[in-house]
Amino acid sequence: MIRAMTDVNRLSIGILGGTGDQGKGLARRFALAGHQVLIGSRSAQRAQDAAESIGAGATGDENAVVAAQADIVIVAVPYEGHKALLESLRAELAGKIVVDCVNPLGFDKQGAYALPVEEGSAAQQAVAVLPDSRVVAAFHHVSAVVLMDPAVDKVDLDVLVLGDDREATDVVQALADVIPGVRGVYGGRLRNAHQIEALTANIISVNRRYKAHAGLRITDI
Ligand SMILES: NC(=O)c1ccc[n+]([C@@H]2O[C@H](COP(=O)([O-])OP(=O)(O)OC[C@H]3O[C@@H](n4cnc5c(N)ncnc54)[C@H](OP(=O)(O)O)[C@@H]3O)[C@@H](O)[C@H]2O)c1
Repeated sequence: MIRAMTDVNRLSIGILGGTGDQGKGLARRFALAGHQVLIGSRSAQRAQDAAESIGAGATGDENAVVAAQADIVIVAVPYEGHKALLESLRAELAGKIVVDCVNPLGFDKQGAYALPVEEGSAAQQAVAVLPDSRVVAAFHHVSAVVLMDPAVDKVDLDVLVLGDDREATDVVQALADVIPGVRGVYGGRLRNAHQIEALTANIISVNRRYKAHAGLRITDI
């Protein structure tokens, strides 16, 4: 795969909603890889408790503090809270790479399905709300269960990284690469983020049928 090697090792990583399954799972893997990780929450106490459970030097604070302090900020809150949270952090997130892994999904008796998003996708909603940030979409298909499983040394999947800012997508691809087994793969512009977010509904169906935590691999690169 041809792309510039980007040194991301020194970047601190903040995670909004880092007390949840996905945020804590990503936090754990980045902390194990040696990154300074800052867990964000609506409650500083919940964030500190989550950071303590991760160890490896992770710290916890309110989302706004984490958004202001971290070099790169991952958004890992449910879609219902996505827009309002980002609106409230516009100033703190200005100039930063903001990594959106939010999947707007609904669930009913037939399983998961993609919700319509006025802006096109959660990632494009982030762009609309954060005009001064560098929004990248990534980590949509990574299972939180796998990220948290101490028996899994290597996470066997590719992370599709989407964005309109080449330097920012290179950084996030390099960030995905620090998780053993994971490869960050450029997946297109943000106008094509909808189907990446929506594809998670199909992966959830795969997981239910095969009792698995499936991931994706892109071949021939
Ligand atoms: N779970 C997965 O395997 C997975 C995989 C890929 C992508 N994702 C995406 O990652 C995101 C988080 O998933 P999750 O399973 O970790 O969700 P979650 O556990 O339900 O929520 C994550 C955290 O978000 C905060 N939160 C909840 N409602 C909020 C609101 N209305 N406004 C602001 N913050 C709120 C909570 O933290 P505090 O109460 O501490 O503030 C919560 O711990 C989702 O958008 C999901 O689509 C999940």
